[in-house]
Amino acid sequence: MIINQWYVAAESAEVTAAAPRKVRLLGLDFTLFRDPAGRVHCLSDVCVHRGASLGEGRIERGCVECPYHGWWFDGEGQVRRIPSLPPDTPIPKRARVDAYPVVERYGWVWVFLGDLPEAERPPLPDFPEYEDRANWRCIRGDWHWRANYARVVENGLDFAHAPFVHPSFGDRERAEIHDFEVEADAWSARAKVTYIPPLPRGVWKWLRRERTPVQAQPSFHLSGATMRLDVWLTPSWRMVIFDVNTPVDEVTTHTRWIMARNFFRHPLFDGDARRRTLKIFRQDTAIVEKICPEIVPLDLTEEFSVKSDALMNAFRQRRRELVERGWAIDVETLRHHLDGRRALVIPSPARRAAGGRNFVLKTVPLLPPRAPSPEPLRTAAA
Ligand code: FES
Ligand SMILES: [Fe+2]
Repeated sequence: MIINQWYVAAESAEVTAAAPRKVRLLGLDFTLFRDPAGRVHCLSDVCVHRGASLGEGRIERGCVECPYHGWWFDGEGQVRRIPSLPPDTPIPKRARVDAYPVVERYGWVWVFLGDLPEAERPPLPDFPEYEDRANWRCIRGDWHWRANYARVVENGLDFAHAPFVHPSFGDRERAEIHDFEVEADAWSARAKVTYIPPLPRGVWKWLRRERTPVQAQPSFHLSGATMRLDVWLTPSWRMVIFDVNTPVDEVTTHTRWIMARNFFRHPLFDGDARRRTLKIFRQDTAIVEKICPEIVPLDLTEEFSVKSDALMNAFRQRRRELVERGWAIDVETLRHHLDGRRALVIPSPARRAAGGRNFVLKTVPLLPPRAPSPEPLRTAAA
């Protein structure tokens, strides 16, 4: 699991000014809450006093009140009130927890889990169809996997599995993937592929009457561990599936999805679109939850790739670069030596700006940075 990335922590509607909301991300707990001005804040969940869970507390005057001794934490993580001290006692600077940058977009709360200053943080992925209500109809939902999030993202980028796992999407007799180019930038990559799906059934049979090729473009963006699939069912009838994949812990993933379509925009068709989307998740889950090993190997020679895996490999390459920068949590050390014995947090931008001074809790162990590997990922020639 990697720090210094954006992750989706909740649906916007789930975070209110009425009560804090506790969420688990990258194996650690966080507290989300909305202040009276409507802004969402994200704090490390462990109270710096005696370790109580802030997410179990309440909201008082725009602060989270710890459930144990009633200290008030503001949106920056600073303590504003210590009820057991006389009211005019200055609050010590060290009475604070880490607070993380938050952005609300596409109806989700995105949290930046890391300490990079604003200018160095990656952008969020674009999703213009979501904003274009005149031409697009969106439905949304979520899905839980007992699987590592990188395996889940890779599954979304892997079109070679469609004919075997999703019979309505692909034809096992025509499973060949024609050559495609991977177009990549610093944070994302995409590829256009053509396939010939079986004729649709049910209401969607009006979409295509002949077995004409369909164009699809799977893509990923590191922010949110986003997987996006564009499908051109006809030159003008388009569908977009936009998934953000949040690592709850190493082997648990919470996917939130939005499916946008520019045809059959009447809400009457929502139920059918939802059923089709959930069926795809169910079919994928049966495979992905049983992949061995659960974690994508860091040593990429431990699995064998072919040419049609190129987009997945672009994702692996980008993730490897983040590991090389020293941003991967050292899960082994965490699990075997520190779990339950020490409260650990992900460093926040304010902690970095202060040079670590005035923060009591220790930060999670990270794998040491390593020299960038000059080798591109090895793939077999097709
Ligand atoms: S443990 Fe939070 S105020 Fe004491
Ligand atoms: Fe799939």
